[in-house]
Amino acid sequence: MSKFWSSTVRKTKPYVPGEQPKETDVIKLNTNENPYPPSPKALEAMQNEIGDDLRKYPSPTVDTLKNVIANREGVAPKNVFVGNGSDEVLAFAFQAFFEHNEAIKFPDITYSFYPVYAKLYDIPYQTVPLNDDFSINVDGMCNSIGGVIFPNPNAPTGLALSLNDIEKVIQGNPNQVVIIDEAYVAFGAETAAPLTKKYPNVLITRTLSKSHALAGIRLGYAIGSPELIEGLERIKNSFNSYTINRVTLAGAEAALQDDGYYSEVIERVVNTREWTRYELQQKGFEVLPSSANFLFCKPTEIQARELYEKLKNSKIYIRYFDNLEDYIRISIGTEEEMQALVDHIKQKVSAK
Ligand SMILES: Cc1ncc(COP(=O)(O)O)c(C=O)c1O
Repeated sequence: MSKFWSSTVRKTKPYVPGEQPKETDVIKLNTNENPYPPSPKALEAMQNEIGDDLRKYPSPTVDTLKNVIANREGVAPKNVFVGNGSDEVLAFAFQAFFEHNEAIKFPDITYSFYPVYAKLYDIPYQTVPLNDDFSINVDGMCNSIGGVIFPNPNAPTGLALSLNDIEKVIQGNPNQVVIIDEAYVAFGAETAAPLTKKYPNVLITRTLSKSHALAGIRLGYAIGSPELIEGLERIKNSFNSYTINRVTLAGAEAALQDDGYYSEVIERVVNTREWTRYELQQKGFEVLPSSANFLFCKPTEIQARELYEKLKNSKIYIRYFDNLEDYIRISIGTEEEMQALVDHIKQKVSAK
């Protein structure tokens, strides 16, 4: 604590991201990055952007990128908001749509940034326990006072809700904003984007960090009714006119137009995920079915924390959450990385 800190800083409890080890010879399966490189077209577009124009500010309205996203999603540019990673989009959405005296709802096991934003912006919240099978409790998410947010598929479980269930949550919160965080939707869940046309209170958020292998350029976006998008723009324009840099804009525009490349990358990740799930089950792990680029599992012959630490000593990084003692989350890497993981697990478990 410092005497110079404002009361806001004093009460913050910042989010702790997964480790980003300095060594390069590690197998990094802890932050759900894509193991494959970004589209060559995106890389070329970004390289071409490095030049004299960098002395100028980027577009404050990001119209070209909004057009690209709108065309892909079958919506109008006025239905699109763009941010510096979906974390920024989410942070703006908490400010734009949630109130200080109206509790919002989110699942008790979910993306741990939600309670951090809630505390930062002084928004009360109620967590809704997951069902016994780790799925989101649809009825429990209805009748919120202040709004609702959940990822589909959920993180860190990887389980997806059907569109039918999502619509029930929306209908159960007709006067509140319902945010569906689709960071991992491309790996196997159904998008709720079409529901934004039917319901003016629904906001979908997406990111290029996972499916598009571009976590390093920080680009996220939202789709929703013009009134929700205008709310986000008002917050953004009261914070920073230029949240997206020129290089990121060029890379994102090109990446979002290279569907052929990304559908191959995503298919590869999904195939490797299913292979890994089978192998881990053979080793006695309980592994939830996943619609994302990670697996949520419980080792049975070794403690989750012990396995996490042993793997880390062998330079394989997976994610262990202090509040989910028995479980680990493993991001899907390349086929070779996952083979190495499975081999190491075999050694660690049999060395017990
Ligand atoms: C559920 C969920 N939402 C949003 C994000 C943030 O993604 P980004 O800020 O990289 O777009 C993450 C990142 O791990 C996530 O797991």
